[in-house]
Amino acid sequence: MEENQQLLQPLMYPPSATVTTTTTTPRGHHDIKADESILSIFFRLVLVTFIGIVSIWANHEASKGFAITIVNEAGADTFPAKRFSLFYLSNDEATRIVIKASKSVENFLYPIDMYNKKKVNQVTLKLADRNLSDGVVVEFGKEGEFVLHLSPSIMEDQNFKHAMLLEVKKCVARIWLWDGQGNAPHNLINGIVEYIASNFSASSPIKAKLLSSTTAYWKHNDIRVVTEFLNYCECSRPGFIRRLNQAMKDGWHERKLDNALGMPVQNLCTTYNSSKHKFSSTLDY
Ligand SMILES: *[C@@H]1O[C@H](CO)[C@@H](O)[C@H](O)[C@H]1NC(C)=O
Ligand SMILES: *[C@@H]1O[C@H](CO)[C@@H](O)[C@H](O)[C@H]1NC(C)=O
Ligand SMILES: *[C@@H]1O[C@H](CO)[C@@H](O)[C@H](O)[C@H]1NC(C)=O
Repeated sequence: MEENQQLLQPLMYPPSATVTTTTTTPRGHHDIKADESILSIFFRLVLVTFIGIVSIWANHEASKGFAITIVNEAGADTFPAKRFSLFYLSNDEATRIVIKASKSVENFLYPIDMYNKKKVNQVTLKLADRNLSDGVVVEFGKEGEFVLHLSPSIMEDQNFKHAMLLEVKKCVARIWLWDGQGNAPHNLINGIVEYIASNFSASSPIKAKLLSSTTAYWKHNDIRVVTEFLNYCECSRPGFIRRLNQAMKDGWHERKLDNALGMPVQNLCTTYNSSKHKFSSTLDY
């Protein structure tokens, strides 16, 4: 990516400099001016085409093989559609965000090539035509094709740039994650997605009171518990989530957790619970 940019910049500056000089020709020389304006239009067309081709090529290069399409489906005069166009569509920012998010997720889940990497060929990011209750929905299409539906409400968020980054990162994490061929517990998958999107750490420490009587914290109903527990596991057995992801390629069984941890997950549930109780007994009570 960086190499590409260094390569592109010298290519792109000279033509735009030419356009600027031709448009500032002094008045009076009508014939020359007419010729020059035709030339100038011609140059602009060439330039626009050129930049278009270069940017498609650069995006393709940067995303290392998957195509990205951005679609605005929200009504054209609505505020979310306008904001989306202005901040994400017109300047290709949406594409860049998808590429950046994908890079960071791929580095985490598949740091070396020999890992069984998922096949991703085509990602379409759509601003949906109506609010979605979950903020985003990832649609799994034909093999290797994914559609990310973004809720227009994200564009109305006070901190929409942050919200957008977070949601795109979640979607991209969901795309790259194996899910035991659809059989892994949803709470676990959502927890891993949340853990990745929140930059590989638990958000704010949860209180022991939130832990219900169940000890299967990796599929707890409260996503904060799952995320924090995953963080706890990852800290005590680094690479755990990566190994679990690999194992989930072929299906799901609870033993996959034990294998990825190198110890029974139940042991960690027990130590996690007692650490929370110890922690809260000094803080809360
Ligand atoms: C969508 O959600 C936003 C923010 O929550 C709200 O302001 C807007 O009115 C909603 N739009 C529709 C069509 O319900
Ligand atoms: C994650 O880290 C990146 C880069 O440090 C930052 O831009 C982004 O806002 C962070 N995301 C969250 C959810 O904290
Ligand atoms: C969690 O730990 C507390 C204190 O050690 C204990 O009373 C409680 O039964 C444990 N909960 C579970 C679900 O194991």
